[in-house]
Amino acid sequence: MYEDRIRHGALRDKVVSAAEAASLIRDGMVVGMSGFTRAGEAMAVPLALAELAKTDPLKITLLTGASLGHDLDKILAEAKVTARRMPFQSDPGLRRAINQGEVMFIDQHLSETVEQLRRGQIPGVDVAVIEAVAITSDGGIIPTTSIGNSASFAILADKVIVEINLSQPLGFEGLHDVFIPTYAPNRMPIPVVTVDSRIGTPWIAIPPEKIAAIVITEKQDSAAAISAPDDETRAIAGHLIRFFEGEMAAGRLTKRLAPLQAGIGTIANAVLHGLIDSPFEDMRMYSEVLQDSTFDLMDAGKLSFASGSSITLSAECNARVMAQFDRYKPKLILRPQEISNHPEVVRRLGLIAINTALEFDIYGNVNSTHVMGTNMMNGIGGSGDFARNSMLSVFVTKSIAKAGAISSVVPMVSHVDHTEHDVDILVTEQGLADLRGLAPRERAVRIIANCAHPDWRAGLADYYERALSFGGHTPHILEEALSWHVRLRNTGRM
Ligand code: COA
Repeated sequence: MYEDRIRHGALRDKVVSAAEAASLIRDGMVVGMSGFTRAGEAMAVPLALAELAKTDPLKITLLTGASLGHDLDKILAEAKVTARRMPFQSDPGLRRAINQGEVMFIDQHLSETVEQLRRGQIPGVDVAVIEAVAITSDGGIIPTTSIGNSASFAILADKVIVEINLSQPLGFEGLHDVFIPTYAPNRMPIPVVTVDSRIGTPWIAIPPEKIAAIVITEKQDSAAAISAPDDETRAIAGHLIRFFEGEMAAGRLTKRLAPLQAGIGTIANAVLHGLIDSPFEDMRMYSEVLQDSTFDLMDAGKLSFASGSSITLSAECNARVMAQFDRYKPKLILRPQEISNHPEVVRRLGLIAINTALEFDIYGNVNSTHVMGTNMMNGIGGSGDFARNSMLSVFVTKSIAKAGAISSVVPMVSHVDHTEHDVDILVTEQGLADLRGLAPRERAVRIIANCAHPDWRAGLADYYERALSFGGHTPHILEEALSWHVRLRNTGRM
């Protein structure tokens, strides 16, 4: 049974039910599960754990690569299994529990979690639960649609549970490139010198005796829920493409652009889509999540290679890509997230990073995570890894939210994820503000003129003009800086 999937003979005896495997997880443990942007997550064991908790309550610290699909975060939060969670999530149910203070969420740069684990700065992983297409004859784990933090979880954990997912093709073998950096302070350079550098092994190498249980599953990843491009996201893409054309005319970019990183969500996906009808060719991605737009750009002959940590697709795109995966495979690599997001590599390759803001302020500080400075949306994800270290750091957002009640351009952001020092370009459907080489007073004028919605532009200009009377490098009226948010809380409109 499963000889092609479990090639290490002795390990075939480790196949058990999900409930038996879940019983290895005890109250108070730290559990590292595979899963990154709803791709490649272990499914059967977490579901069994939520079931077990009904009769035998337990609480765990749950670590993953990033967000989980199949409502797993909701199910585990509702079963009161998740006590602590890091480093990213995007589930409305878990979001509620976090914002009610029931789950302690540690919102973290995605490249950093395993560094902290490795150095013993946070409690170590007791059990790793990793989804795989197969186990090699040496006990190597071949992941599925994501790697995320799976390799380090498996290497650092006391015990490993492997979920073999029969619905994921064996053709994934060879897609992954697992590389674990050596320890600081004697770390050698990470030898990724081009987006397609292969520097590791195609599986996660661990001693086979660490594999304590194997569970067989057969469930597809949950489909990405990405809204189609609309007039605003098309306008954002248009502004950015014209900016890239200007950079090309000035000799700072070529027709290939620079390797692209694009964040999660509808807007970043739509911006990449816009590149299909652009003059740019032979582009490359060095990103974190590969969404529909990656494969649409490949189909359009525009993108020659994509490196990421996960593949997260809509149902329609997934069917199309998986039906001819061999055609895409030579143009793809999946890496651990500490490598896909590594500051050293991001800086070396000179990326163009395109991420999404909830709001930004007139000086260019960006809030990507906290609604009203208080309520967690998803988390910073990899946006900080890329924004700080890219050649060009771009943030996009629509200029208004909630039918115009909210201006996404505000006097002062209510929470800062990306400081003005990390932000080069801001884009809304209204226009683009190139902030390079500008002082705060120059930035404010440009951001208000180019990015603010006409309904809110005069109010922002008025705030800035009055703030000037207080002087300073970055003029503010401290009594009023968050008054737009206060007004929204009190009246439902900024
Ligand atoms: N204040 C309050 N709510 C706002 C807002 C603001 N200024 N701007 C947007 N929103 C709301 C939208 O109304 C929408 O709400 P809904 O879900 O109730 O409809 C929600 O935020 C998402 O906005 P949307 O316009 O659909 O954008 P998106 O799907 O592109 O997501 C982020 C935007 C910022 C939430 C998302 O990109 C994110 O989590 N980013 C941080 C992580 C990251 O950047 N990772 C990148 C590396 S992969």
